[in-house]
Amino acid sequence: MDERIIATTELATDDWQYSLRPRRLSEYIGQDKAKANLAVFVQAALKRREALDHVLLYGPPGLGKTTLAAIISNELGVNFRQTSGPAIERAGDLAAILTNLQDRDVLFIDEIHRLSRQVEEILYSAMEDFALDIIIGKGPRARSIRVDIAPFTLIGATTKAGALSPPLRDRFGVISRLEYYSVDALIEIITRAAQILKIPIEPNGAAEIARRSRGTPRIANRLLKRVRDFAQVESSATVTDDIADRALVALEVDRAGLDHTDRRLLDAMIHKFGGRPVGLDTLAASISEPRETIEDIYEPYLLQLGFIMRTPRGRVVTEAGYRHMGVAYPKTVAPNLFED
Ligand code: ADE
Repeated sequence: MDERIIATTELATDDWQYSLRPRRLSEYIGQDKAKANLAVFVQAALKRREALDHVLLYGPPGLGKTTLAAIISNELGVNFRQTSGPAIERAGDLAAILTNLQDRDVLFIDEIHRLSRQVEEILYSAMEDFALDIIIGKGPRARSIRVDIAPFTLIGATTKAGALSPPLRDRFGVISRLEYYSVDALIEIITRAAQILKIPIEPNGAAEIARRSRGTPRIANRLLKRVRDFAQVESSATVTDDIADRALVALEVDRAGLDHTDRRLLDAMIHKFGGRPVGLDTLAASISEPRETIEDIYEPYLLQLGFIMRTPRGRVVTEAGYRHMGVAYPKTVAPNLFED
């Protein structure tokens, strides 16, 4: 289990963050594009008194997909049912959930790319026709009966839209990508959270935390709480940029929000592989981290920062990445990158 302070996945100790979750679209900070579009679709569905079209939310973990789904159901004034791909083991489990939905309810399926094939197939007719085809009996006497269900909205969330099967992806009317948050949006989120948690914080303190939160509110809120501990121990009345900086140094979160593992990864690419392109599996083996963890957690943020780059021959550290690690950029490596 990933228990790093900058883990993007939800930690067992994150329960307190529920109190910070915005309940309305107007309280939700950032993701302006997704928010503006969803606001229109919600209004239109309300006017037509119809269920909202099925929505797929995708993007890195910790950016508020579940929060946004809950807000949509709240704005629609309907029930919110929540489950996840791995939690639905059998087709019957999903059929039970679907037949219990009320008119226009929202069903949220997190990690929807992890649904099994059989379960996924139940979803096709449910999404398209609001009906389930249920097989009764076995062998030659088996027959299929069609059961109607209430019109509902499926909101699926995934960290990788590419992992979704095309027939499932095609059944979503709205596909919305969530982006890493800007530092300004994170400052607003931290300031709002500090108000709710009654943590006095200076604007520069919020900015320092924001810059080091990997574009991710879940991390920003977590760092805010840890930084408050440092302020309290030092008997400081408010969180200043100086306290935030010292706390984050102590927590081994560097100025760009990288932790020990990110730095180990860059270090291996620079020193072990001498700046040459490295394949994901080689990299995973060299720092003893699972390939998926590098692909889903570390790499997206390092790519976003422009510290690494994908080339046809593998991953390489960019000039900005070298600079961040305090290593001179080897000009001789660069011209060979795109050769086959
Ligand atoms: N807390 C976590 N994410 C948030 C967001 N996008 N807006 C407001 N508060 C948040």
